[in-house]
Amino acid sequence: KISAVIFDLDGVIVSTDEYHYQAWKQISDQENIYFDRAINERLRGVSRMESLDIILSHSDKVYSESEKYLLAQRKNDIYCELLNKLSANDILPGIINLLISLKARDIKIAIGSSSKNTPFILDQIGLATNFDAIADGNSIKNSMPDSEVFLLAAEFLGVQPEECVVIEDAQAGIDAAKAAGMKAVGIGSAAKCFNADMKLNDISNLDIDHLLEVNEIRS
Ligand code: G6P
Ligand code: MG
Repeated sequence: KISAVIFDLDGVIVSTDEYHYQAWKQISDQENIYFDRAINERLRGVSRMESLDIILSHSDKVYSESEKYLLAQRKNDIYCELLNKLSANDILPGIINLLISLKARDIKIAIGSSSKNTPFILDQIGLATNFDAIADGNSIKNSMPDSEVFLLAAEFLGVQPEECVVIEDAQAGIDAAKAAGMKAVGIGSAAKCFNADMKLNDISNLDIDHLLEVNEIRS
């Protein structure tokens, strides 16, 4: 029986794709590295340093660890500046209703995200105090597809992994949820994931009874 829902943040609660894209684009332009929206798609759910490695794989130059660290820091400074524009208006359709319905049914809610900017983003969109637990990039060693972030969210909630369903927009996140022994709902681009237990284009199409039973439905 499902007793908790773990939400990924970027791409599920709020769309930060464009800001990540703009920040990485500035860095790659400065470094003369080819970068486009298709490459940006591959960064979904991937940690900051692993994202940088994907970007640098399009360059011939060999970067030292300290150069990489500085590039990641520069990208994050640009990204955080852009995040200042984020507000409750950027919460994706259907999320607020879903959170209210889950609370009404006594289902626990948590965030499970690779992002180290999770506290800042939740604050910007006004949801900093709405979740029963938050597991994020600051509290884990291994990023998705490792199961660590979702197992930590379940531990914070005091529930077993098999009682959890994860909502994700990235293949790495669906893999992480399955590796944790949880049900996985793929939304947006993750609606194509073969191993998602339920697939949806959009949260606003979600039927809460279906979510809690996690029947396979496709839209
Ligand atoms: C999320 C995003 C990724 C991002 C990662 C780390 O998973 O989907 O695109 O790289 O978080 O984000 P951060 O805010 O820590 O740089
Ligand atoms: Mg995501």
